[in-house]
Amino acid sequence: MDGTTTGEAVVDPTAAGGAANGLTGALGLPPEEVERVLELAALAPSVHNTQPWRFLPAHDRIEVHPDLTRRLPATDPEDRELRLACGAALFNLRLAVRARGIRPLVSLLPGGDALAAVRRGGRLPADEEVRRLLAAVPARRTNRKPFRDVPVPVAHRRALVRAAERERSWLHVVTGPEQRFRLQQLVAKAHRAQAGDERVRAELAAWTGRRSGDGVPPGSAGVRPAPQDEWALRDFGAGERPPGKDYEPDPLVVVLCSFYAGPPAELQTGQALQRVLLTATSLGLSASFLSQPVEVRPVRDELRRALGGMVVPQAVLRLGFGSPVPRSPRRAVRDLLVERAAR
Ligand SMILES: Cc1cc2nc3c(=O)[nH]c(=O)nc-3n(C[C@H](O)[C@H](O)[C@H](O)COP(=O)(O)O)c2cc1C
Repeated sequence: MDGTTTGEAVVDPTAAGGAANGLTGALGLPPEEVERVLELAALAPSVHNTQPWRFLPAHDRIEVHPDLTRRLPATDPEDRELRLACGAALFNLRLAVRARGIRPLVSLLPGGDALAAVRRGGRLPADEEVRRLLAAVPARRTNRKPFRDVPVPVAHRRALVRAAERERSWLHVVTGPEQRFRLQQLVAKAHRAQAGDERVRAELAAWTGRRSGDGVPPGSAGVRPAPQDEWALRDFGAGERPPGKDYEPDPLVVVLCSFYAGPPAELQTGQALQRVLLTATSLGLSASFLSQPVEVRPVRDELRRALGGMVVPQAVLRLGFGSPVPRSPRRAVRDLLVERAAR
């Protein structure tokens, strides 16, 4: 051979369909389907859109690994939210596998670096609920803008509580002016603590307004905080707030809790978080996060006591009827794979 081209396609013998992307088949699915499943998993939410997950598809399983290069040591010193995000990605993965007629068998912390492994548990046709939640995966997004001044119907609230219960977690619905005021105070207190912490501010700045496949882009920043805001939302550098564009006076605010503390509970609650968010999306609801009081440890302890001390608060959400917001970016699947050498 003299190196001239003959017009024939050069075929990499290791590449079959999506294997060109470094992917092999898994769980009986061909590489292209595995790629689609991982794309759906990666549409999960994560703090500052760090996307702190990696995937290892193997013949009999797909593993979810943490990407520790994407930690936020100041904002999330115990990697608790990193595990919540990986749990949310795991929920999407379960859903995508289930939608392909496969019953997903999940083990949490199966060994090695993996946070979870999904195996094939026989055939199980997708039902209406699976289809509804799966359709919500690409439609869901964090909406930091003011919502319409329309109350969330009781039936919707119940559906969200049930969604958390289905994933063995607890959704506390904040009710009455007293509870609301108490939580607003805790949000404000933790917000001030984080605003005064240079390392937290640096992490926020590093992940804000990036133009790559991660971070929070300008279009997702919401509106600029103003003194009249009752809930302190994180400042992602939004432009000037249009006149009269204030936050809704009475959003539905919920605290998602686990029944015990520690990594398995966080992975469990991450799955619950995603089921709650997808249920909300399927009901036409928008959601944003108020994570400051669960990120600042002493405030989280205060919140836990305020909730009676039996459950562990893991995430705080604001829900309501919002206007459309753009989708935030995601990295390509090929950048999310655990290196072959590690398999
Ligand atoms: C555990 C967790 C905590 C989060 N906390 C906040 C928060 O406090 N404020 C906020 O604006 N967004 C928060 N987010 C939302 C992320 O910034 C968002 O998921 C990410 O930017 C990707 O955007 P998307 O949800 O629209 O796909 C949080 C997400 C997760 C999973």
